[in-house]
Parts: sequence; structure tokens; C-alpha cells
Amino acid sequence: MKKSTLIAATLVGLATTVFASPSAESIFDSKCAMCHLKTRPTDRANMIAPPLMGVMRHVKMAYPKKDEAVKFIVDYVQNPSKDKAVCMPQKIARFGIMPSQKSNISEKELQKVSEWMFDNYPPANFGGMRNRPSFTMFDANGDGVITQEEFNAFRGKKRCCAKGAKR
Ligand code: HEC
Repeated sequence: MKKSTLIAATLVGLATTVFASPSAESIFDSKCAMCHLKTRPTDRANMIAPPLMGVMRHVKMAYPKKDEAVKFIVDYVQNPSKDKAVCMPQKIARFGIMPSQKSNISEKELQKVSEWMFDNYPPANFGGMRNRPSFTMFDANGDGVITQEEFNAFRGKKRCCAKGAKR
């Protein structure tokens, strides 16, 4: 084989490796979406975890900066605990603590997924990122309904979120 052919073949090989690595969204789809819906849930009763838009809204309230939010998610997914959870006591009461995904996802994949989550969720039209309380701030799981539980939880956690937002 001529040297130039060899180089060309190597380059094609490299490019294939880069392009073949799964996108952040497809990693989410295969490793997180079975629990965290990407869309507004239509069947609230069968939800097993808060939907992605609700999760990210709360993460961003506590960690508005991307690098901090990503760091939080990368750590939480591997070592979830009640103390670290951001502003969602009612979710933990309902769904229980998230099972650690340490053995299901590599730290590298997790980093990629977390950045994608921060960049894309909650969707721009979702609201809820303003300072005054809005419907979506009460509606903790983003399903379009405010339950008594969510209402009480929001009132109870107000101080925690206001403080987090200033960081
Ligand atoms: C087996 C179901 C399940 C899977 C799989 C799962 N999660 Fe979760 N996750 C939960 C539940 C339940 C909660 C709510 C309770 C909690 O916060 O611990 C949660 C909460 C979260 C939170 C919010 C943490 C907080 O502050 O309370 C983040 C961020 C998160 N998940 C990210 C992910 C990512 C990223 C993946 C994929 C790598 C993933 N989850 C996979 C069930 C799951």
C-alpha cells in the first residue's frame, strides 16, 4: 500500500470513530429516557420519575451556571442522595431517590448528556425561569397540573430556591 493511501485510510478510520460515537441525545434516550420523559407527560399516573423539563428547571434554579449544573448532574447521577437533591422534596417523597446509574453510564457519556440537558431543557417556551413565581414553578413535575402537594412544597422551599438562584 502506498503511504498516502495508508494515511487516507487512517483518516477515514478516525472520522468513522468520531461520527460513530453516539450523540448526547441518543445516550439520554437509551440510558435516562425510560425514567425521565422528554415531553410533557400525558399519563401522569404511570410516571416513575420527574420529566426532564421539570428536572432541568430545578437544576437551573439551584445551579444557573452551566459548569456548575453539569458538575452537579454528573455527580448526582452516580451518587444520588436526599441531601444533594435540588428543591424537589415532593418528588423524592413520590418517586423515591433515583437509583445510582454509576454502572450504566460512563463518566464521559454522563458529561456529554449533562451538557446536552443544560443546553436544551427546559425548552425555551416552557417558562418558569423568571423571578416571580409562575405556574410552572408550582407545577414541579411539569405536567400542567398543580396539586396541593406541589403547592405546599413550593411554599415550603421558596427560601431554598431564592438563595440558589443568586449564586
Ligand atoms: C430507574 C429510573 C431512573 C433512571 C434510569 C434515571 N433516573 Fe434520574 N431520577 C430518577 C428519579 C426517581 C428521580 C427523582 C428523585 C431524585 O431526585 O433522586 C431522578 C432525578 C434526577 C435528577 C434530579 C436530581 C435532584 O436534584 O433531585 C437528575 C439531574 C437526573 N435524575 C438525571 C438523570 C440522568 C442524566 C439519567 C441518565 C443517565 C437518569 N437520571 C436516569 C429516576 C431515574
